[in-house]
Amino acid sequence: MMEIDVFTLFPDAFGWFATQRHVTNALARGHALGLVNYRDHTPLSGRQVDDTPFGGGAGMVLRVDVVEAALRARYGRDPVSLGAVRRVIALDAGGRLLDDALVDELRQAPALTLLCGRYEGFDERILEHFATDRVSIGRYVLAGGELAAMVVCDAVLRKLPGSLGHADSAVEESFSAALQGGPEYPHYTRPAEYRGWRVPEILLSGHHGRIAGWRREQSAMRLSRHEHRPGNGPLP
Ligand code: ADE
Repeated sequence: MMEIDVFTLFPDAFGWFATQRHVTNALARGHALGLVNYRDHTPLSGRQVDDTPFGGGAGMVLRVDVVEAALRARYGRDPVSLGAVRRVIALDAGGRLLDDALVDELRQAPALTLLCGRYEGFDERILEHFATDRVSIGRYVLAGGELAAMVVCDAVLRKLPGSLGHADSAVEESFSAALQGGPEYPHYTRPAEYRGWRVPEILLSGHHGRIAGWRREQSAMRLSRHEHRPGNGPLP
């Protein structure tokens, strides 16, 4: 069973996310999504969690003592050794880029802890001593790690068996090994013709073997057309 804990200053931000079908399916099957508010565990007065950066500069930095207190409250152990039993992932714009291979790695972990930063981010000692990974969802800076944490949770949870309605939908999709890392083939549904735009005839033919071949071909074409640039694309 996958157990994901998200540490955040804004647990309410996950309200909508937690109602998504693949998430409720995963939870109904015994997987767990926990939300921990750093503020509920801060040892500082006034529910303080962040501070101004040493050396000056704009913004606020999430404090290492606050993050330690929250991790200790949740796991009852020194967070320095937490990495032995779960992957502790700091959401960080400069971290390892999230792709299908990383999602596969994460879903096989015994458990995940996601640390959301805010403002200017984390005190570096959090990353150095508590986190096992730094993960980025793209080379741009978000106001906080919450959206990135939801992206990671979404991508991991939907790959757990039974999360999606149809058992195969997560298998033969973009970037997965079933398509040799290629982008997905195009999909169509009714109406078969709309404003003169016809669905490819082969998909209406009922020839499953030829349809499978056409899909592989389309996927390969998309890959070679460089819709996905090298370095940004699915291949390692
Ligand atoms: N925190 C701020 N920006 C981020 C990004 N692009 N990815 C992950 N975490 C972030």
